[in-house]
Amino acid sequence: MTSKTFQALVVSETGDNTYLREIKERNLQDLPAGDVLVRVRYSSLNYKDVLSATGNKGVTKHYPHTPGIDAAGIVVESQNPDFKPGDEVIVTGYDLGMNTPGGFGQFIRVPAAWLVKRPDVLSLRESMIYGTAGFTAALSVYRLLDYGMKPERGKILVSGATGGVGSVAVSILAKEGFQVTAASGRPETRDYLAEIGAREIISAEEATDQSSRALLKEQWAGAVDTVGGPLLATTIKSVKYGGGVTCCGNVASPDLSLTVYPFILRGITLMGIDSQNCPMPTRVKVWQNLAGPWKLPHLERLVTETTLEGLNQQIELMLARRHQGRTIVRLPE
Ligand SMILES: NC(=O)c1ccc[n+]([C@@H]2O[C@H](COP(=O)([O-])OP(=O)(O)OC[C@H]3O[C@@H](n4cnc5c(N)ncnc54)[C@H](OP(=O)(O)O)[C@@H]3O)[C@@H](O)[C@H]2O)c1
Repeated sequence: MTSKTFQALVVSETGDNTYLREIKERNLQDLPAGDVLVRVRYSSLNYKDVLSATGNKGVTKHYPHTPGIDAAGIVVESQNPDFKPGDEVIVTGYDLGMNTPGGFGQFIRVPAAWLVKRPDVLSLRESMIYGTAGFTAALSVYRLLDYGMKPERGKILVSGATGGVGSVAVSILAKEGFQVTAASGRPETRDYLAEIGAREIISAEEATDQSSRALLKEQWAGAVDTVGGPLLATTIKSVKYGGGVTCCGNVASPDLSLTVYPFILRGITLMGIDSQNCPMPTRVKVWQNLAGPWKLPHLERLVTETTLEGLNQQIELMLARRHQGRTIVRLPE
């Protein structure tokens, strides 16, 4: 096994801040030390992978590098008694695909502590339709429910609704009986958003206040924000008394310009969502929800399947904000 070669998408720095993405042959010996060697069957594309694939040093410090923060596959070798060859496992987050070679290669070698056993009723392929984005959406809903959010309290706003996190959040919230308002920068996606459960669709412009008022009309019981910046600030100013907002993303901006008034006059709560280092007990509970009560009947509606060869095109679509739902990557067998 030690001399085996495999295929991977490799991103290399070519100078002048330019990066080349090529499918290359790698050797198992190139993989870092770790307890478990996994043959990857499916990976998925997340916004963080696009950052890694385009040379964002905040995500990946050293190149050449194989991105892919998600992987689902079969254990080939294990030095940990909890995992044996043949076990089907899921890895999302930790350092996978950041500075550890990731799921855009046929093999990964990782610490056993990063692995979740595939829940019985979720296939490896389905687990990657969720992937980090779906897991993050589910963690956001989990936090809102834990906070006490109930459908009768009113509408929930989801921003970046056509994206990976947004699409799964809209779907799970609708399944839980919430009235979901989807905010999207792409009016042409109305049919898709309605199909996956949005009751109301508004434009990103409508959801972004241009005044500098500290508080706005109370509209939302809660929100799942995936974009950050002015849209998140507007959302926080528009949440009803006692409401809760989750925040996971920064595609629009990492900045948040606000006063303390929504917090001290309306008692609202802003909940930060981190999927990367989410503790294992919560991680397992969230995956069980995705495999159980939150398993979506329209999973196939969310997904585009590609191969290592097709990844470049999907990365470009995500960069151009023309990507929709979730993209999974089928690795060669
Ligand atoms: N904290 C965590 O653990 C965690 C985990 C996963 C993802 N994230 C973050 O969550 C965000 C979404 O990730 P994703 O995988 O869902 O990405 P994605 O599939 O690319 O979706 C992002 C969506 O945001 C909207 N958008 C894109 N560019 C924008 C811009 N410049 N201004 C405003 N809106 C924009 C688009 O939706 P519309 O066209 O519908 O508006 C797009 O579909 C990213 O920032 C990602 O890094 C964080």
